[in-house]
Amino acid sequence: MSHSTRIPVVLATVVGCVLLGNTALAKPAAERETYKEVIIPILRGKCYQCHSDAAENPSGKKKIKGKLELTSIASIKKGGDEDVAAVPGNVDESLMIERIKLAHDDDDHMPPDGKPQIAPHELKILEWWISASLPEGKSLKDSGAPAEVIAAAGKVPSDEEVKKTLAKAASQTGADTAKLAEARKALEDVMTKVSESFPNAIGFVSQQDSDLTFTAVSMRKDFKDEHIAKLVPVNGGLVDVNLGSTSITDAGVAGLSKMPKLKKLWLNGTQVTDNGLDAIKGLGELEYLNLYGTQVTDAGLKKLVGLKNLKKLYLWQTKVTPGAVEEFKKSMKDCDVNLGISVQ
Ligand code: HEC
Repeated sequence: MSHSTRIPVVLATVVGCVLLGNTALAKPAAERETYKEVIIPILRGKCYQCHSDAAENPSGKKKIKGKLELTSIASIKKGGDEDVAAVPGNVDESLMIERIKLAHDDDDHMPPDGKPQIAPHELKILEWWISASLPEGKSLKDSGAPAEVIAAAGKVPSDEEVKKTLAKAASQTGADTAKLAEARKALEDVMTKVSESFPNAIGFVSQQDSDLTFTAVSMRKDFKDEHIAKLVPVNGGLVDVNLGSTSITDAGVAGLSKMPKLKKLWLNGTQVTDNGLDAIKGLGELEYLNLYGTQVTDAGLKKLVGLKNLKKLYLWQTKVTPGAVEEFKKSMKDCDVNLGISVQ
């Protein structure tokens, strides 16, 4: 082969690696140092978050669960509460492998269910590493790794890449937390205002989001159509609204069309009629609608066709007929319609 053809090939390989941004490709898998460049990236990605001190922990916080550190060969051999994590030369006696291989729903399974799991090619490498008595300071080839282990190692990202990926994930979580705190903070003033008119009626659905719930149940008949206007500043955040047994009529219900995130709505025991349902037919997120004890008829039910997320509809003691429900169900198969105990 002449030099003129060889150089472009080498160049193409180098450029390819740079373009892929994959430092793992920079070195053939067989040349990677066994412990630092193959084992550590696996354990850092899947175990360090719960089994390392602050310096190595992706969260930046010390977490040494089961008193087991997995950040050095010495600590792996030392083990945790129950046993050593790995017995050099004996895979079957090695607790870390035993835990990884347990069924996912077993409480002792590692990593715990729901966390990023060890992939089959990673397990193959870990098992070989333990059976070879935890080699370090040598390349995979010089440690005697078989071809299938070397092939598996080719899929393991470099330690630098793992660090980068983990840092990105951590900053994403941080950003999400900050965003949520901001969204909740932004709602504080308007929520205080609403609370002045309706004490204890508004709140967050959960700690994990900025969705709002409103209930007028304790005000009962004192809650009237004109009060809906007071909710305008929080319209965009409301997901649950309970107006059951209030004095609300079709005029007040019209205001609900401005609550695009509404998922659950109680209008049971109110004066609402078919006309009021015009405001509801556009609420695409609606999952639950309670019209129990209202004047709604078959014509009103027809208006609800098209609410593609509707799963529960209560029509007990309304003027809706079983025949109309049957017709409704033809296009609303996922919606569970409750016409009361006598029918169904
Ligand atoms: C999300 C947290 C979390 C992750 C990730 C995690 N573990 Fe654990 N691990 C725990 C907890 C909690 C315990 C202690 C309770 C128990 O023994 O199950 C534990 C205990 C262990 C033990 C028993 C230690 C002893 O001697 O008692 C081993 C071995 C172990 N983990 C291995 C691993 C390995 C290997 C990984 C990565 C493949 C891993 N863990 C990832 C949370 C985690």
